[in-house]
Amino acid sequence: MEVIICTTAEEVADVAASKVARVCRDAGSEVVIGVATGSSPIALYERLASRVADGRLDLSHASAFALDEYVGLPAGHPESYAEIIRRHVTEPLRMDPSRVHTPNGFADDIEQAALDYEQAIVDAGGVDVQILGVGSNGHIGFNEPTSSLASRTRIKTLTEATRHDNARFFDSIDQVPHHCLTQGLGTIRAAREVVLVAQGAHKADAVAALVEGPVTSRWPGSVLQLHQHATIVVDPSAASKLELLEYYQLTYAQKPAWQRFDAR
Ligand code: GLP
Repeated sequence: MEVIICTTAEEVADVAASKVARVCRDAGSEVVIGVATGSSPIALYERLASRVADGRLDLSHASAFALDEYVGLPAGHPESYAEIIRRHVTEPLRMDPSRVHTPNGFADDIEQAALDYEQAIVDAGGVDVQILGVGSNGHIGFNEPTSSLASRTRIKTLTEATRHDNARFFDSIDQVPHHCLTQGLGTIRAAREVVLVAQGAHKADAVAALVEGPVTSRWPGSVLQLHQHATIVVDPSAASKLELLEYYQLTYAQKPAWQRFDAR
């Protein structure tokens, strides 16, 4: 696991976008990108969109798979993750909408929709780079605490903490669904690279547990300690509870030139 402590939230976006763009270039035009919703990766998507706009990055043949979707919203609801991904990913990154996928939380048969989603990822050749945020309770995707570390795409019940966190996107908490369809922790682990971004003091406990805590389903993000290529990019507030903070700063400062991300 590589932990990068940036000085500002803007730098988090710059560094994470550089890393993602590098994987995209290495993987080729048909790169498969795993995309997260939430506020954390929005600036990262904006940085990628600038690269697309000025021709440094071409994602017209790339595919994307979102992590999760609410179950219980009507199709087309502006806060459905399908719509959020369209607004923040598909359109600004000029991706082919037919290659951008979200779990079908609107399906009559949710279990089949989960199986179909897993198969679609396999059929696409697997995810080359998974972009992640982390919930304040440590969830990744919508894998709430005590999610199986081996889980695959399935229906989950949201915790009240997550419903409260996400209520800001709705008129009232009563409108926040209780259920979701989410890639599992096993699904996320199968991505070849993972880039997680976190900003703000409200993420500090989750980041500390994810990076330095025991691997435990109590803090689902800690499963990333088992991933071979996970990069965690955080701002000082999100990093504030890391015990080995100075070591991560030293490691990044001493990074050999050939390992550095191309900032272009
Ligand atoms: C959401 C999403 C996650 C996201 C997390 C944090 O509910 N399901 O993918 O990482 O919660 O959201 P935010 O980035 O807005 O803090």
